[in-house]
Amino acid sequence: MSHIRAVIKGVGGYVPEYILTNQELEKKVDTNDEWITSRTGIKERRILKGKDQGTSAMAVKAVQELLEKTNTNPEDIDFILCSTITPDYLCPVTSNLICDMVGAKNAFSFDLMAACSGFLFALSTGANFIESGRYKKGIIIGADKMSSIVNYEDRNTCILFGDGAGCALIEAEENSSYGIIDMAMRTDGSGLNYLNIRGGGSRLPPQEYKFDDKEIHKKFFIHQEGATVFKTAVTRMADISAFIMEKNNLKGEDIQWLVPHQANKRIIDATADRMGIGPEKVTLNIEKYGNTTNGTLPLCFWDFEKKFKKGDNIILAAFGGGFTWGSMYLKWAYDTK
Ligand code: UT7
Repeated sequence: MSHIRAVIKGVGGYVPEYILTNQELEKKVDTNDEWITSRTGIKERRILKGKDQGTSAMAVKAVQELLEKTNTNPEDIDFILCSTITPDYLCPVTSNLICDMVGAKNAFSFDLMAACSGFLFALSTGANFIESGRYKKGIIIGADKMSSIVNYEDRNTCILFGDGAGCALIEAEENSSYGIIDMAMRTDGSGLNYLNIRGGGSRLPPQEYKFDDKEIHKKFFIHQEGATVFKTAVTRMADISAFIMEKNNLKGEDIQWLVPHQANKRIIDATADRMGIGPEKVTLNIEKYGNTTNGTLPLCFWDFEKKFKKGDNIILAAFGGGFTWGSMYLKWAYDTK
């Protein structure tokens, strides 16, 4: 029986120039390089500076690089999906702005929010549009300006996050043995208390803002109860990845790359261990970018593109606020010189 597959044809990325080091954070909060490195694996992160610069500023640069690298005319793009928890505005959505700025005049676009699992959820959504046969080419973006929602007085969170954007071009290919093969996604809204940004939505709307009230002010920043999120992330990310591997008759030795969400190196190590995948097969860039939320998976593609080989079996794994989590199995479709 003939089938259409969504195949990744290229990737793009962008991280801002400014580097925020652990040493600089030592001057802002009661922390130290040794604690951050040993507990998280993070050494530095990138921060988007400049007035009136939102998430789209980084995403546009990543998409422009992708269009150039793949020699793609923006007018041939059918859709652009942007996963982000730090949109430029609530309305219009960031992907609409990106379409306009890159000249994707014939595309429809929308944003998708699933916290740190957003890129995996958006890639799955885009793959399903392609597999339907209605659309031929789409761009999936994962981008966040986390510095816009991080409280740099809270040592529990400010050491973790950074800014960045990545993207992938997916195209329809008939009867291909490459591309996106399987995915599984889950959510559990009872995770609300452990990872959230409570301000700005309909439960704490602008008319109730009292910026002189310190407790309300804090609700506009990311809040995390790290230890609970850590434990939940380790089990759920590993369980769902093991599920995808079993479903597709894959053992650790059949996998060339694990591309995990970059929240904490210890979570990544535990997930890889559970899947029977050695550290040499794990994409890791947390030391230089920190947790860029929606940016982590596509920025791993961007950094490791040259190492991926045509036909490599790749497992993506993500976990984030919500809670949301998921895994995807894909076969890489090209070699990079
Ligand atoms: O991407 C979305 C999903 N997010 C995640 O997956 C993140 C999951 N969580 C984590 O990565 C870890 O829980 C953290 C890195 C956030 C924290 O590491 P932890 O080993 O779970 O530390 P903890 O929260 O249990 O805190 C241990 C100690 C505490 O001190 P006491 O109570 O033992 O005296 C904290 O107050 O470390 C203290 N601490 C710090 N010390 C130095 C917390 N933050 C810091 C800090 N510097 N920045």
